Amino acid sequence: MSTAPTKKDENIVWHQHAIDKAFRATLKNQKPAVLWFTGLSGAGKSTVAGALENRLAQLGYHTYLLDGDNVRHGLCSDLGFSAQDRRENIRRIGELAKLMADAGLIVLTAFISPHRAERQMVRELLPEGEFLEVFVNTTLEVCEQRDPKGLYKKARAGEIANFTGIDSEYEVPLQPEIDLPAGEQGIDALVELCVSELSQRGIIAPVSN
Ligand code: ADX
Repeated sequence: MSTAPTKKDENIVWHQHAIDKAFRATLKNQKPAVLWFTGLSGAGKSTVAGALENRLAQLGYHTYLLDGDNVRHGLCSDLGFSAQDRRENIRRIGELAKLMADAGLIVLTAFISPHRAERQMVRELLPEGEFLEVFVNTTLEVCEQRDPKGLYKKARAGEIANFTGIDSEYEVPLQPEIDLPAGEQGIDALVELCVSELSQRGIIAPVSN
């Protein structure tokens, strides 16, 4: 039997510390947010999120980028790609992103996160307006043609099981806050689209080019 505490465990009490989210965000002079990049492998999630983080940092914002491949080397190194493991992967990242937003940061995440239910689960962890779903929108054909890590080729050859887009589904976001035409436009244009959406939504101050 598991001895792990449950949410309802009456012996585990939430401790409210004096320095809170609002204080930390004010110190950083910014509004915390979680920019949740989702899309197929090879769509460009990490590349666009990295370039956006760079842009935000240049503008003086405090950020952190959580990247799928990197997190799977540490925090989630015990997880594979079954539906159950992907769910746990996203649950952990969601909780981590929430803590980082609580630290006052603008968090960017780059995970395939193929299931709507899991993306919704993370959305519900955060206050209204703080979670922005960023769909890195490309066709499977484009990703397969790019195949930067040679994984589509391996998946087609039957060397990788449960590969997203091949033998594991990707559920397209229905109402993403930001929908990036990542098959048609270059990185700089995609970053500027994000910057303009973020300023329109009041996450960052208006940016003059
Ligand atoms: S997620 O589905 O749980 O959100 P995540 O973004 O962490 O996936 O990891 C995806 C990365 O793992 C891909 O970019 C790819 O490099 C690698 N990978 C290895 N096996 C698979 C697989 N079966 N399906 C998708 N990606 C895989």
